[in-house]
Amino acid sequence: MQSILQTAKELLLPALRPGGTAADFTMGNGHDTLFLSQALPEGKVWAFDIQPAALKATKSLLKQNGAGDHVQLILDSHSNLDRYIKEPLDAGMFNLGYLPWADKTVTTRRETTLEAVDKALSLLRVGGVLVIVVYPGHEEGRLEGEALQQKLSGLDPKRFDVLLHRLIHVPDCPYILAVERRK
Ligand SMILES: C[S@@+](CC[C@H](N)C(=O)[O-])C[C@H]1O[C@@H](n2cnc3c(N)ncnc32)[C@H](O)[C@@H]1O
Repeated sequence: MQSILQTAKELLLPALRPGGTAADFTMGNGHDTLFLSQALPEGKVWAFDIQPAALKATKSLLKQNGAGDHVQLILDSHSNLDRYIKEPLDAGMFNLGYLPWADKTVTTRRETTLEAVDKALSLLRVGGVLVIVVYPGHEEGRLEGEALQQKLSGLDPKRFDVLLHRLIHVPDCPYILAVERRK
């Protein structure tokens, strides 16, 4: 079976259209930002992280790949996304948790993640997709996933489709929550 991150990217692809807007809400080392910038060459990509090192790593990755002219890197919490993104959103990616090999205490947290997801959902255009990768193998990640499932399972089915993609026999394995805004 293909990796969770590959599946996450494939869920986002159909929502991207030339001239549209996408956001990487957890920039980290910039791999998802690079993916979005390459998949959306004519459009706008926003990327958020609270760690200056993430912006540095992402800037360098984009440069190495000759990408990034249309990418805006923001040093701020994704919970403040509405201060920056004013246009409808075609696709958004949350790759939660912490950066491997870095400070594990700098992890995404329920309160800010829920606020950011709420705000991102309100910006999602019809046909737009939000993909959230959850890491339940650590305590905050497990609680974050549970809170997200509770929130997203309450969305109006007339307005949103919500998908849970999970290996049900490996409880600690990362999983995907994806939301598509319906017509
Ligand atoms: C699993 S990593 C993301 C991996 C990244 N997408 C990549 O391709 O390398 C999670 C990232 O979320 C960031 N983060 C944590 N809390 C955040 C917040 N409130 N707003 C934005 N980013 C946050 C962390 O600093 C970390 O870099």
